[in-house]
Amino acid sequence: MKRIGILTAGGDTPALNATIHGAVTRANQLKIELYGFIKGFNSFFNPRVPHVHLNPLFQSIPELDPTKGGTLIGSSRDYVDPDKKDELDQICERLKKLAIDGLIAIGGDGTLNGLQPLAERLPTVLAPKTIDNDLGLNYPNEPDEWVRIPDPVAPHGCRYTRSASDAVFDLDHIVNYVTPGYSTAVMVTAQGVERIRTTAESHRRIAIIEVMGRQSGYISLGTAYGQPDIILVPEYPLEIERIVDRVRLLYDLQKNVVIVCGEGIVDKEGRELGAMTKSSDPAGNVALSGAAEALRSELITILGDQYFQRYRRGRSAKEAIFTRKVGHTQRGGRPILFDRFYAALLGSKAVELLVEGRNNAVSILQYDGEKGFHVEGYDANRFRDRWGLIHPRYMHPALYDPKLMKPSRLGIDYLLPIFTGAIGHDDAEHMRQTLFNPGNLAQPYHSINTDVHKRIRYIQT
Ligand code: F6P
Repeated sequence: MKRIGILTAGGDTPALNATIHGAVTRANQLKIELYGFIKGFNSFFNPRVPHVHLNPLFQSIPELDPTKGGTLIGSSRDYVDPDKKDELDQICERLKKLAIDGLIAIGGDGTLNGLQPLAERLPTVLAPKTIDNDLGLNYPNEPDEWVRIPDPVAPHGCRYTRSASDAVFDLDHIVNYVTPGYSTAVMVTAQGVERIRTTAESHRRIAIIEVMGRQSGYISLGTAYGQPDIILVPEYPLEIERIVDRVRLLYDLQKNVVIVCGEGIVDKEGRELGAMTKSSDPAGNVALSGAAEALRSELITILGDQYFQRYRRGRSAKEAIFTRKVGHTQRGGRPILFDRFYAALLGSKAVELLVEGRNNAVSILQYDGEKGFHVEGYDANRFRDRWGLIHPRYMHPALYDPKLMKPSRLGIDYLLPIFTGAIGHDDAEHMRQTLFNPGNLAQPYHSINTDVHKRIRYIQT
């Protein structure tokens, strides 16, 4: 390998630059050139293939700062279509012109699906990222449990469901224990709960906080660090009576309730509460919004105005129950130590896997009681179901206690290694030194895009 290409695809996370930094550092040691493609796979659809040389003379460009969130090379939700053979040929021709020997994609399940058709034509490796923590397997044979059912109204005429599992769930057997981006996102959601709590307490309100994660409940689960009263995850259909009973109990006692819900929570029929629109990614992901609002409407109807008036805690249920979405703040900004450190190791491992000739591999972050966290290589094919599709990982149901609506004992055991020590001293110090910097008031924001733009190169067409 003399020259490797790298791209970031899908939604951004705080640790993308840290992963690129890890890859650049290893490439410098191995004297390999690293080209960053602009805006993910989108770069390949442009005949001029916009790219940036990330390590001229085997030194990292100064714009690459592993402590900065987002991605200096940009990202998009554009993916390669496996059925468009001509387009794939064209892309490979373009990469050949650039003398690219191998490709690293930093992404999640959508990106790994998108890489599959390319992996048959060019050595590729995935370095994982996603705040949703849904790239991985709860146990190695999990993909075999997917069943495909013909469904004329579903995209591509079929939908997927899971057969009963006979696997014993063991934290030591999780494939890719956690993805970079998750811990920073959870820090933001847990802080969000802490901040909303004081308003709920002061004004005797019921707050419903919606967090991201799509159909996977990992972000909701981790938000337990902010001590919400009730956590709702997409993996367990809502039991509205149980929620209302708990709300009444808590509201009587403490005059406020904070509920956290994942954006993908479902009702008893399995219907997502949030409205859905289709996204373009090949994992078949959908955009979700409105779960917290839907839950609020239910609580307003069931509790009614009188419930609040009786205690003189509000004129109406509408006034007393409010929702907040943590939104994109959980995806942006500076990554905390855990994310930065392991993202860099995964980026470095991705380069090694390409050099070792491990085509279509994934650099994964493993954890076990003996070795702690460590990186390994894993074949992407082992993430695919019988029909070749890679599914997002669901939070294993054993991590959640549906009666208490909180993490189970196993869930707590899962979270502890990630979050104990996840925040570095420098993370706290960084805020102290930079947020109220007087210069922030006087100087306009200087975007990294302005500097990187000057480094963008194109191939001659
Ligand atoms: O997959 C990451 C994620 O942040 C999800 O949690 C969320 O549903 C989705 O992306 C939002 O995507 P967008 O920013 O494109 O609306």
